[in-house]
Amino acid sequence: MSHHGDHGSENDYERKFDLHHILSKATSRNTLVTLLILTIITVGASRIDLGQSLNFALAMFIATVKAMVVTMFFMGLKYDSKENRGIFYSAAFFVLAFIALTAQDIFTRHAGWQIGKNDVFLQVANVGGPSFEKPYEKSEAILAHGKKLFETNCAVCHGAGGLGDGPGSALPVKPRNFTVADGWKNPRRPSAIFKMLEVGVPPYMPPYAQLAPNDRWALTHYVLNFGPAPEADTQQTLAAVGFDPLKPAAAAAVKKTIPIDFAIDRYLKQ
Ligand code: HEC
Repeated sequence: MSHHGDHGSENDYERKFDLHHILSKATSRNTLVTLLILTIITVGASRIDLGQSLNFALAMFIATVKAMVVTMFFMGLKYDSKENRGIFYSAAFFVLAFIALTAQDIFTRHAGWQIGKNDVFLQVANVGGPSFEKPYEKSEAILAHGKKLFETNCAVCHGAGGLGDGPGSALPVKPRNFTVADGWKNPRRPSAIFKMLEVGVPPYMPPYAQLAPNDRWALTHYVLNFGPAPEADTQQTLAAVGFDPLKPAAAAAVKKTIPIDFAIDRYLKQ
């Protein structure tokens, strides 16, 4: 009596699918030799340069044949039921189709599609015109830079004279009038305005995080210059926005990132 002889149903199952098929010595040997030959071919083929995609296709093809030999003989799929074989082959087919489509995509990509540190859009944040050693300090040079930026980015709402009367000022909330000190939501202090330009004042004052920090400083000095002298920054308030005057090196490390949607947008427009 076999070890599971009393379970009739199991016996039927076993007979039907021939679970215990024993490979003949010859078949085992032939299978092994086939695998060895295929391995040698793989190694040989990898030494010949057929171009990246052909080498890849060939290696995948040989690997597939080897996998089939193993599953058919060693794992007994050849002697298994039709259903199991069908399931296996269709799974294998879809895996192969997946690999083929993926490979087709990867190998036909234009080199420029890979994101590298030299890609223009990743540098956007760092190309903000002149670099200022202490951008948190007002100077003629930084005000001149701020004026240019203001006229292209902000005058449409805030007006060229900073009165909050640009053509785009018909908003439910009036753009700030920079010539007066009242009505401001953030403290009228350079570091606070610099920070505000990164995050905006929802929902009508848009964020300008895509501008380089130096650009945002330039705009800060320029808009504050329309009105009475602003509150002065301290070492602490500057350090709070990443520009500690006592650690000037840290300033350079500030925020080299740009918002992802802006990056994608730039990228698509290239
Ligand atoms: C789409 C129109 C629009 C544009 C463009 C715009 N702003 Fe504004 N801005 C507003 C509105 C509206 C407010 C008032 C928001 C509020 O009070 O909620 C505002 C407020 C401000 C404030 C005051 C923030 C505070 O804390 O009170 C500053 C400073 C400012 N904007 C600077 C700028 C600068 C610099 C630019 C260009 C880089 C700019 N804005 C571009 C509409 C705009």
